[in-house]
Amino acid sequence: IVIVLDFGGQYNQLIARRVRECNVYCEVLPYDTSLERIKEINPKGIIFTGGPASVYAEDAPACDKGIFELGIPVLGICYGSQLMTYSLGGKVSKAPLREYGKTEITVKNESKLFADVKDTSICWMSHTDYIEQLPEGFTVSAYSASCPVAALEKPSQNLYGVQFHPEVVHTQEGTKMLRNFLYNVCECSGDWKMDSFTEQSIKALREKIGDKKVLCALSGGVDSSVAAVMISKAVGKQLTCIFVDHGLLRKDEGDEVEKIFTEQFDVNFVRVNAQQRFYDKLAGVAEPEEKRKIIGEEFIRVFEEEAKKIGVVDYLVQGTIYPDVIESGLGKSAVIKSHHNVGGLPDYVDFKEIIEPLRDLFKDEVRRAGLEIGIPEKLVFRQPFPGPGLAIRIIGEVTEEKVKILQEADYIYREEIANAGLDRSIGQYFAALTNMRSVGVMGDERTYDYAVALRAVTTTDFMTAEAADLPWEVLGKVSSRIVNEVKHINRVLYDCTGKPPATIEFE
Ligand code: XMP
Repeated sequence: IVIVLDFGGQYNQLIARRVRECNVYCEVLPYDTSLERIKEINPKGIIFTGGPASVYAEDAPACDKGIFELGIPVLGICYGSQLMTYSLGGKVSKAPLREYGKTEITVKNESKLFADVKDTSICWMSHTDYIEQLPEGFTVSAYSASCPVAALEKPSQNLYGVQFHPEVVHTQEGTKMLRNFLYNVCECSGDWKMDSFTEQSIKALREKIGDKKVLCALSGGVDSSVAAVMISKAVGKQLTCIFVDHGLLRKDEGDEVEKIFTEQFDVNFVRVNAQQRFYDKLAGVAEPEEKRKIIGEEFIRVFEEEAKKIGVVDYLVQGTIYPDVIESGLGKSAVIKSHHNVGGLPDYVDFKEIIEPLRDLFKDEVRRAGLEIGIPEKLVFRQPFPGPGLAIRIIGEVTEEKVKILQEADYIYREEIANAGLDRSIGQYFAALTNMRSVGVMGDERTYDYAVALRAVTTTDFMTAEAADLPWEVLGKVSSRIVNEVKHINRVLYDCTGKPPATIEFE
């Protein structure tokens, strides 16, 4: 194991993720973790993350200096390297020129950290302080035009520091540098795999939960499913999954989720068919945020009623993954849409503690974990689906009839995207029902029916997105199938807008 000491930088989990990508297991711990605890863990290496503070600020986060005496290799990144410098008697001060963005550095290849790295290479800098004077015994192993100490080291004590961020993709050879640290300096064997993560987590969950009861609100999405299956592997039927079918799922989705969980996994699976309740509450409501609010509240109410039947539980499982943790931490940006399932805890449910087994993982890691524990590919690679479901893909008022129309159109669209082999390369794609009706002609008859809009976007983080460049033949086929097979649709539109200025969903 390698530990990542967290000094509050924005890329901390990214560092952890890069380490795992090198097949080395690692955990992120707070910067003030005691020396005793670190000795107990006895890691093969320690990585200090970046952070927003200045080491010379009064309340700057600092670690126990004893860490440098343990004989365990240390790699300081950005703030981490400044802290190492400062703690060991070097000098850190405000840089005459702050560096931000892609920067060329020159490295010394004889450094173990830079073995096989090109002499000059692009890296990502983001700092206002810099290392002005090295601590005793250290040498410079990389520099840039305005940063004389872009990297420093004292190999005799296995201490290394870099001013730039090797963990971000903009640092061209960053992964190689991290791998060099892990393999050449820490001498990690690199034989850790995702199955070790799932195995270890399941074992830890089993120990933690003991003979207690656990409750899970299962949405059928990837995250809550993986979290639930991990718990079920740990404690079997001590877990109850409540799956609320709000009648706003994609075609057949409710049945598919039920089938998977009842046939393949050992849990108490409770499906609540609350479709009509949701349709009733949504009747006459056209405003998107109001729809979200109604669905969010009703969901909690239904869940609560079901949970009451079970009585007091000890743990509530949440499928929170790392990007949710960052996003909900930001909190300062304007509310464009209220994504109700982020932070939307059913606070009336009686439980003692929340368990979040996927809190440190990125989406693709969750998927890998899901495959490891036997969740079918279809579910593991399911594209993101919003909590309020089809309600925010039906512009204006939601009715049961509109839901049925949209389900059929969306099903055809998804089927054709899969037939064309495009389902894994498009970030998100779906049909939305506009509330526009227009005139058409079918079999010499005039029609006056709905237009459906097709959306497909490529994106890495769903914060920005581009309209996917779908082949015309695919669009043509989808369009002709939809108007032929789905009653009440006589026009198919393709949405070419990116995000921004549009959003991915229509509401
Ligand atoms: P937008 O439409 O904001 O979507 O560009 C970005 C991502 O978030 C999903 N989304 C939601 N997810 N509840 C959710 O759970 C919501 O209310 C919601 N609104 C949007 C959307 O599907 C896309 O992946």
